[in-house]
Parts: sequence; structure tokens; C-alpha cells
Amino acid sequence: MWQPRGRSVLTGLLTLIGCMPGCQPRPQPVGVPFPAVFQWGAASAAHQVEGGNTTNDWWLHEQQPGTIAHGDRSGEAVDHYHQFDRDFAEAAAMGHTAHRLSIEWSRIEPTQGHYDEAAWRHYDAVFASLARHHLRPMVTLWHFTNPQWTMAQGGWLNPRTGAAWVTFVEAVVARYQGQVRDWITLNEPNVYGFHAYDIGLWPPRHKNRDEAITAIINLLKAHGQASRAIHRLDPTARVGIANHIALFAPQNRWNPLDHLKAYLVDNLFNRMPIEAQVTGRIRVWAPGVTSRDETVPELAGSVDFIGLNYYTRWRQSVFDSSDQLVTAGAPVNDLGWEYYPEGLHEALLTLRPYHLPVVVTENGTADRSDRQRSALLTATFQGLRAAMADGIDLRGYYHWSLLDNFEWADGFRPAFGLMHVDRAALGMPRTWRPSAYLYRDLIRAARPAGDVAVGP
Ligand code: FCB
Repeated sequence: MWQPRGRSVLTGLLTLIGCMPGCQPRPQPVGVPFPAVFQWGAASAAHQVEGGNTTNDWWLHEQQPGTIAHGDRSGEAVDHYHQFDRDFAEAAAMGHTAHRLSIEWSRIEPTQGHYDEAAWRHYDAVFASLARHHLRPMVTLWHFTNPQWTMAQGGWLNPRTGAAWVTFVEAVVARYQGQVRDWITLNEPNVYGFHAYDIGLWPPRHKNRDEAITAIINLLKAHGQASRAIHRLDPTARVGIANHIALFAPQNRWNPLDHLKAYLVDNLFNRMPIEAQVTGRIRVWAPGVTSRDETVPELAGSVDFIGLNYYTRWRQSVFDSSDQLVTAGAPVNDLGWEYYPEGLHEALLTLRPYHLPVVVTENGTADRSDRQRSALLTATFQGLRAAMADGIDLRGYYHWSLLDNFEWADGFRPAFGLMHVDRAALGMPRTWRPSAYLYRDLIRAARPAGDVAVGP
């Protein structure tokens, strides 16, 4: 009846009992070439790098004591708002061909219906700079932050927030179509829903799992409308959602209840939003939440590709209420997340049933001393090749992130950047970590001959 993560019952059983005698590990398909259309880059989000985003809900949230680790506030972040041109020059020197960034809704529309001309001109300059550095933009239209006025109207529990956001999306696409073809409507609606409305760690800090599901569903429905609007304005546009997929595995491989728990968490957190954006059917069934089953016509076929954000694996035990247990004895990153780059391949394979192109829209690790990031990148390139050999139509890889940045409730301590940023020094100087050179070399080796990226 139950199948761990959509695999067949037989595969599930084999996983349960381990590799049978005589079973051979699959050889690494090192030679699989990346397609010419493949994009290499880094991903970022406005509030985490720009600085000075004073009119969104996060800004208000950060001013309250105890909300962010070590009392941090986004403040000037890493001053990307002023240093974007220099940052894009570094990305180009690393051999990137593309860049994922978000447009801050609260900058463009600080009060409802009022569009800020200076904010438009800022993003005009950002896109001009990307073009100058030959970086193809992939633009996120919502990455966790909301204008303060939307929260006063009930945030994502109120479907009108979705309608207001779609109006903003139309304005952005009308302005930048021709310069941007790759749109990410939403970043990780599942992560946002649970952090903001269930765990209560992010604004508006509610603690109600049903509300979390409502927020996720309202986001998905708004995505469906946004997707239609984007295609109407630009029939050549390509639209996707950046989906966070965490791997959920049993704590005790011999305990069927641990398997069942992993299956249920996977179903609610990973699979429900992806099924919805592909098929239009929203199905929620999990212990402790109100069941839902509805079909939303705008959602069916609403993505041209599936975006995947992959970071780690979490263990599930029926004896522990947490759904974020770390594999015993496994290496971890600076945030205590299991270092498990092999999981990217596994996460990619879960997308095979959808028969759509896939873009890795985020992947990386919190690693200030850069002791793990190079090995992660090497393993990741193997994982990408292995997934392509398995038939996944991969179109791009965006490392999280180009720069160290404001890591939401964890503040500035976790360092995800290919470049270290010294926030205490005048001008916040950036320095390439050793792994940035490796990423450059891996891209260089993966791109077609003659297509040479230059060094810093
Ligand atoms: C993802 C978020 C991104 C960043 C990374 C580390 O969940 O999309 O903004 O915080 O995690």
C-alpha cells in the first residue's frame, strides 16, 4: 500500500534489506555531457543580499528582540543593492552563464497600488548589468518577503494577497519581458508555509498547521494565475517554482513505522506542492491536519520546468516528534544539517515521473571555513551527470549562493557564499573561497570546448 518516496514496492523492499548478494553498485557515468542549453550560475534572494529592505514584513520582524540568532538584523545585508555590478563581474569571472535573483515586491510596491519609480530604475540597472556580463537572468517573483501592507490584510491566509501579488507580477513581466525569459514565481512555498504559520519562526509567527497548509495552497493558486499571466504577456517565457525537496529517511530501517512516517512527511512537504503545480490537483492527507482535495484548473500544466532546491536529508522516528533528526555519526555543516551531496541525485530521481525539464535552482552548504564545499561541488557534478544518465532532462545548476548573506532566522553566521564577505570592513570586501575556483574549473570542463571562462 505505501511506497517510500514513489519508488516501487520492490525497490522499497530492496532498500529495506540492503544490497542483495551479487548486486553491483552502478558505475559512475562520468562521461555524460551537459547539453549546450545548460546554464551554470548562483542563486540569491533580494532580502538576503541587498540591504535596506525596510518596507517588508521581515524588516519589522527583525526589529523584535529574540527573533534572529545572535540579535542579527538584515540591515545593510551585504550591500548588493549598491555593489551588484561588481558582484556580477565576479560571477562572470567564475564562468557563470546565468544568475538567479529576486525582485523585492516591497521595493516596487511599498504601498498598495503605488509603484516606486526609483525601485524600477534600480532593477533596470541590475538587468542591464547582467546583460553586460553575459549572465542570463532567472528571476524569482516571490522569495519569502511580503510588503507590510499585505500582512496588515492577513498575509497568505487571505486569497486577496495572491490577487495583489499577481498584479505586481504582471507589472514586472510587462517591464522586463524581452530581457528575462526564465521566471520563478515562488520560492519554496512549503518551507515558507511551515516556518511562518506552523513552526512560528518566521513572520507572521503563527503556530497552526492547518494555517500553514492554507498559506501554501493560496501561494500555489496565486502561482497558477501568475503563470497564466506571464505566458499571456510573453508566450516564449519559461515558468517554474523553486521547490525545496528534503529527503526523508527512516531512522531505523527495520521499523516499518519509521518508513511510514518518512513517507507521510515526504508526501505532505515534498510531493503535494509538486503534484499540484503539474496536475492541478491539491491533495492533502496527513495525521493532524484537515484533509483537502480540490482541482484548480489554472494549476494544471502551470510549470514549464521543475525547479529543485536540495540541501539535506532528515531522519524520521516514531519515537521522536521532530522531523529533523540527523543521521547518527554523519558529517554535518555549520548549521548541523547532514552533509549528504549524494542526495541530490536521489532528489532528482523523484522528479522523473513528471517528464518535465528540471533546473537545480538552489544547492549548497553553510561552510564558513570551506572545508566541505569543494567536495560537495565535485559530488554534485557527479550527481548531475548520473541524473542525466538516468533520463532526467536537466537544464541548469544554480549554486546557493554567490555571496555570504542574511540566512533568515539564523542571521549572518551561516556562510553559504562562493565568496566570503567581510561585513565589518569598509566597503564589505568580497574574496573568492577556494571552492569558487573549483566551481569555475568544473564549469570550464563541463562547457563545450572553446567556450572558455576567464579567471578573476
Ligand atoms: C533555502 C532558501 C534560501 C536560503 C537557503 C540556504 O531554503 O530558499 O533563501 O536561505 O535555503
